Amino acid sequence: MNSFADRVVIVTGGSQGIGRAYVEAFVRDGAKVAIFDLSNPEQTANEISSDGDRVIGIRVDVTDRSQVQEAFDRTVRQFGHVDVLVNNAAFYEGLTFQPFDRITDQDWDRSMNVNVKGVWLMCSIAAPHMRERNYGRIINISSNVVFMGKTNFLHYVTSKGAVWALTNAMSREFAGTAITVNCVAPGYTITPATRNMSSPEEVAELERQILAAQSIRRLLEAEDMVGAVQYLASDSAAMVTGQTITVDGGVIVG
Ligand SMILES: NC(=O)c1ccc[n+]([C@@H]2O[C@H](COP(=O)([O-])OP(=O)(O)OC[C@H]3O[C@@H](n4cnc5c(N)ncnc54)[C@H](O)[C@@H]3O)[C@@H](O)[C@H]2O)c1
Repeated sequence: MNSFADRVVIVTGGSQGIGRAYVEAFVRDGAKVAIFDLSNPEQTANEISSDGDRVIGIRVDVTDRSQVQEAFDRTVRQFGHVDVLVNNAAFYEGLTFQPFDRITDQDWDRSMNVNVKGVWLMCSIAAPHMRERNYGRIINISSNVVFMGKTNFLHYVTSKGAVWALTNAMSREFAGTAITVNCVAPGYTITPATRNMSSPEEVAELERQILAAQSIRRLLEAEDMVGAVQYLASDSAAMVTGQTITVDGGVIVG
């Protein structure tokens, strides 16, 4: 297809799960990709392509300004520029389902730090470069739980609500440029993280309930998210900004 030839894409949290599906798709379609991840970015990059001119993995904590700046600069040095930023990294594996008044300060702070501050920081570091080139596609990954609520998961739901609000507000701050800021809100998707969230019995029951709520009755897989992200990253979406595409098999409508 090569529809992303000459494009340079950063995917945060691209080492596994849905993020890895974005990386594989962009590489397949001609882009050069930098994976920013806390765990295994170099190994993932090597597995996807042994050609270091196509994909690089950089170990970076998206909550750390100096690490993000260094990784961004390295990407520009390696690939020449950055066109697309997919803010996919998030912390939720390891969070426990708790009534909101029993959530620990530690879980609350870490959710906000990775899921919200990480997105803001990545955008802040990318913004001067994108403004200078008057080109950029920022795609922030939220969740459909923002639009329906999810009991006992207030830290995560609140953090993803902030990502949705941040997207809308930030799109206005790029007014007068050709830089777009959009959001994709996945529904429940099978990844190592979701399968490890609870006991196998609890996961099976959750998946039964989710299937019943979807109009399209099969569980989502990581590859199901690729189309929406690639559309927002493409030139076809040049006039789309401040928008959210929900990809959840029809749980949320309207
Ligand atoms: N899987 C789902 O059901 C689902 C549903 C709705 C939204 N989402 C969102 O989609 C995205 C991907 O989900 P997933 O299931 O593939 O997640 P995942 O947990 O499998 O992957 C997240 C990745 O982010 C990385 N990461 C975490 N903290 C980081 C940090 N501080 N700095 C850099 N990297 C960090 C992890 O190492 C991991 O590789 C997340 O934003 C998630 O909130 C997922």
